[in-house]
Amino acid sequence: MDKRQYNFSFQVYASISELTEQDAALLTKARAATANAYAPYSHFNVGAAALLNNGHILTGTNQENASYPVGICAERTLMSTVANVYPGAAILTMAISYFNSNGNSATPVAPCGMCRQALTEYQTRTQQPIRLILGGMSGEIFVIENAGQLLPFSFGKNDME
Ligand code: THU
Repeated sequence: MDKRQYNFSFQVYASISELTEQDAALLTKARAATANAYAPYSHFNVGAAALLNNGHILTGTNQENASYPVGICAERTLMSTVANVYPGAAILTMAISYFNSNGNSATPVAPCGMCRQALTEYQTRTQQPIRLILGGMSGEIFVIENAGQLLPFSFGKNDME
């Protein structure tokens, strides 16, 4: 019997003021983007902002639907936008923010499982790890160096070859 372990470390910042200017600007864009979310069912607005390897920044938000499963998360609307506006562009860093129906958002939220799968595929596709900045409208901020770390044992293209 062999035992293996998976672990990863991430950075925790007390607030946005501890981030570099570039990271703080990206998180600020993600926070602002929450206003564009269409979330009349969950009242959970999510905004994401991506810094691309061409220097541009694009944003995405969750877009819900009366037929609930049709709704799409902010991270995936953003990746679709990037792939269409700047085909082939890699995402260097993605900041994700949110607020809920009580207006509370002082702790970071991490991407859902489906978005982790999509982020992992985007990384493989562009051969570029995506750094994540996770933070609400206030409070602590987590920085994760590689989105793939959130999805151990991920299923990908290579598994089908
Ligand atoms: N949502 C996101 O946009 N991103 C996440 O990482 C978590 C969940 C959205 C989906 C749905 O519109 C709402 O938040 C509540 O689940």
